[in-house]
Amino acid sequence: MKIAGIPYRSVWVDEADGWSVHVFDQTKLPWSLDILTLTDEAQVAEAIRSMQVRGAPLIGAVAAYGLALAMRRDPSTEALEAVAAALGETRPTAINLRWALDRMLDALRNHPPERRAAAAYAEAAAIADDDAETCRRIGQHGLPLLQEIAARKKPGERINVLTHCNAGWLATVDYGTALSPIYQAHDAGLPVHVWVDETRPRNQGAALTAFELGAHGVPHTVVSDNAGGHLMQHGQVDIVIVGTDRVTRNGDVANKIGTYLKALAARDNGVPFWVAMPHSTFDPAVGDGVAEIPIEERAPEEVTEMTGRLPDGRVATLRVVAEGSTAANPAFDVTPARLVTGLVTERGRCEASEAGLAALYPPK
Ligand code: MRU
Repeated sequence: MKIAGIPYRSVWVDEADGWSVHVFDQTKLPWSLDILTLTDEAQVAEAIRSMQVRGAPLIGAVAAYGLALAMRRDPSTEALEAVAAALGETRPTAINLRWALDRMLDALRNHPPERRAAAAYAEAAAIADDDAETCRRIGQHGLPLLQEIAARKKPGERINVLTHCNAGWLATVDYGTALSPIYQAHDAGLPVHVWVDETRPRNQGAALTAFELGAHGVPHTVVSDNAGGHLMQHGQVDIVIVGTDRVTRNGDVANKIGTYLKALAARDNGVPFWVAMPHSTFDPAVGDGVAEIPIEERAPEEVTEMTGRLPDGRVATLRVVAEGSTAANPAFDVTPARLVTGLVTERGRCEASEAGLAALYPPK
């Protein structure tokens, strides 16, 4: 993606020193574009835990670099296993984190310690490249869905896509998952317009999706999380496309809290509900998503407080809940496969079912 004409990825190694790792501080967006420098595994773990770095694919890539940073200081097998375990505990729901750490462990275990740091940087770079290419291909395979809608409309009539949370380039290494087809459609000249769910409590939609769609010039409108059903009832949503943090063997989809309600509304209104899934998000080890996927419970303050910009330009955090009341904060939910129209992957589109997934990802 480009910001002010300069191409960026969401994670990169410092060109000058060749080893420190840069990411955008997503907790500062959209108010300022701050770049963080991560120099050890503890900083990486904290950046993931605090959601300075977030989005399932990006978490995996940054954790891989966290292991590379750790191997510079202590390349022993004990350190390798301990740091991978510690990074793996930072966020429980997105499987990409586990996938990336397992790939790193597989690549590094057989190297002698003196070669591990170099091998770790190479493998982390390969993971980042893989993610960028995967997301580009998801865009290619999702584009026909939007072209088919355009073909049914009058020339120039807008295509209305609803999305939830942020599954754009900020959540990945580049391009995004759910937003990748949208960017490709926009770049191809289709009149695409995006309804952006604000996505309380962390407001990834209002703060991040709106920011990146705006930076790319894609027309969009932020709506409160509860508006989607109403828009669908009135024919104002042609398609829902969301990202995902984990897809099970049978096609159940974990994604940001509130996704399930959008899928229910979509089913009730005959609106297609598609999920953009990179291979790193597929978890064939899990069958029943509702029963088996661990759902991260985050701090109640994310619900009782909100951060925004004051009229004088300062950024402030305010309490928005009655004093004395507390809050629960499950960060994800699971949409059963029966509510999912299909999955858009880097290998093509498929049914959200065991057979559909097995056709694209044959069991090993
Ligand atoms: O809690 P987050 O912001 O890390 O959540 C991850 C997400 O952005 C979404 O759930 C997303 O749709 C999947 S990541 C492409």
